Amino acid sequence: MKPKIIELPKISDPRGNLSVIEEFAHIPFEIKRTYLIYDVPGGETRGGHAFKKQCEFIVSLSGSFDVHLDDGTQRKVYSLNRSYYGLYVPSMIWRSMKNFSTNSLCLVLSSTVYDPDDYLRDFSLFLETTGLNS
Ligand code: TYD
Repeated sequence: MKPKIIELPKISDPRGNLSVIEEFAHIPFEIKRTYLIYDVPGGETRGGHAFKKQCEFIVSLSGSFDVHLDDGTQRKVYSLNRSYYGLYVPSMIWRSMKNFSTNSLCLVLSSTVYDPDDYLRDFSLFLETTGLNS
């Protein structure tokens, strides 16, 4: 599966809107972990790695930020700035998050529990693992 923006159900209501994320119904994996990225100082970059197994769904709950993806041959930038859609990122995609606005709040749903051995933090090793620079 490729990276893609997934629109979430949005239940509009004069009392305030509601969006929902259910595993397999709205995102294509079981949710094993949820983490948040917040209080990012202006100009900072998060990420800068790929995962061997883990796939993720990234939502901007507040504010905005850009997710830069690279599959080893193609780069693409996704701007996230709404709570009713998110970015599905499969495994083996190099990703960085940049351009965080003030008070931005990033939600990440992950298909795995935290495993430091799942990270590829070296871009050359990432390319080697994809088989693209061999
Ligand atoms: P990291 O995934 O490198 O953050 P980012 O990709 O946003 O730059 O994680 C930063 C630190 O947080 C690192 O020391 C590992 C720790 N961490 C956990 O302990 N559990 C987790 O679920 C995550 C995502 C990170």
